[in-house]
Amino acid sequence: MSNNTKNYYKNIEISRKFGVNPTTVTNWIEASKKDKNQLQLVQIKDRDYILKKEHNDIIIENLVQSSKKYKHKSQRKVVKAKPEFFETFTPEEIAEIINGIEIYGEIPHKFTYVGGGAESWAEYVERSVSNKIVNTITNTQYLLDKAKNIILSEVAPSKLNIIDIGCGDIIPVKTFLEYLISKKLLKDYIAYDISQEMLDLAKKNINTWFGNGIKVSYARRDINYDHIEDLLFYSKRNQKFKNSENLILFLGSTVENQFNYMEPLRNIGSKITFDDIFVLGITLNNNRSKSYFDFTDKASFNLRSFRTWKDLFNLSDEDFEIEFMYDSQQSSRLLQITPKKDIEIIFKNEQIDTSVEVNKGTKLTIWRHSHHTLPGIINDMDSVGLDVKHVLTSPDETHAMLIAKRKKN
Ligand SMILES: C[S@@+](CC[C@H](N)C(=O)[O-])C[C@H]1O[C@@H](n2cnc3c(N)ncnc32)[C@H](O)[C@@H]1O
Repeated sequence: MSNNTKNYYKNIEISRKFGVNPTTVTNWIEASKKDKNQLQLVQIKDRDYILKKEHNDIIIENLVQSSKKYKHKSQRKVVKAKPEFFETFTPEEIAEIINGIEIYGEIPHKFTYVGGGAESWAEYVERSVSNKIVNTITNTQYLLDKAKNIILSEVAPSKLNIIDIGCGDIIPVKTFLEYLISKKLLKDYIAYDISQEMLDLAKKNINTWFGNGIKVSYARRDINYDHIEDLLFYSKRNQKFKNSENLILFLGSTVENQFNYMEPLRNIGSKITFDDIFVLGITLNNNRSKSYFDFTDKASFNLRSFRTWKDLFNLSDEDFEIEFMYDSQQSSRLLQITPKKDIEIIFKNEQIDTSVEVNKGTKLTIWRHSHHTLPGIINDMDSVGLDVKHVLTSPDETHAMLIAKRKKN
């Protein structure tokens, strides 16, 4: 993470800001010490850094340009994003994806569920449930079943409006919905997801399971930035059944796929009202979950994110090294891809004409799953105004479900 208060650049900051390989930055520093360029340096604890000043920025720009000019074609691959890329994502999402690559070296994983990613996730869910694999999906089913009486004890005797954030194909909440319907406790169900294709799958499942038996609506939104306030507001204040409470579900460790998991928590924490109930599904940070990667077959959802970007950007398997790892500093499992040569991706449609550089050896994160300790997440929720009332953990202690309400001031 960059530190703007320093008067010098860390090499990684230059690498990100100017789209160059970190080794190139080291080479420039060495060249400057031999008076081969005019970069001004500062020494801190025996290491040399480039000073953060306009003079150096101009020299770096020139160095970048000349290195591009002399680079042999075989060291560099230039590709063009396919028209499907522009058809699949909204202009806001396109900006977030391109900035994500350029500024943070990360394409947010949430975009992997859009387009063909929805079917791929649904296959993964189906495989997990039918083979009874103990993972996020089956632990969500287990924990929701255990949590249902606690949830109902918080709202009795009201009916529930469910706002299911990151609803996916809804399989993990099916039994819970059936239970509420059988007890005549379900008023509205709102499926909220960033992916239209996922919402279409959810709709198909709901129609098959319940027909017209439930009142359902669909919201294609991103919980990092978009409203939930209107959904909470209108579901409680429409004419029918005034006596109802909102239940906000954010399950399946979806919070942990976000670039910054605090963003959705802040959004939810700021909008939830005193009567609403919030249920969050998370992954716990223990040795079992840290090392969990599902490679059981080619449909592995983790690898799917690689295939998605590779296809949309006209790249091939041979262009990258692929690495799955647990990063203890970020408490996250990551899937990172590293180009074997410098890659330039051109993005051109009627709105933009730009390109980004992904340099040889620079890691690009395309899947993230952050992990939490219970005290840590309870503290995080408290900091956004959410008071955790109940906590349940899965038998294998890899997952937890937290039931919270708005903190009373
Ligand atoms: C890991 S799946 C979980 C699905 C479901 N809740 C479950 O437990 O099986 C994540 C789902 O959340 C959606 N999603 C991811 N990030 C999102 C965001 N920022 N806003 C809304 N939906 C999001 C994805 O499209 C996907 O359907």
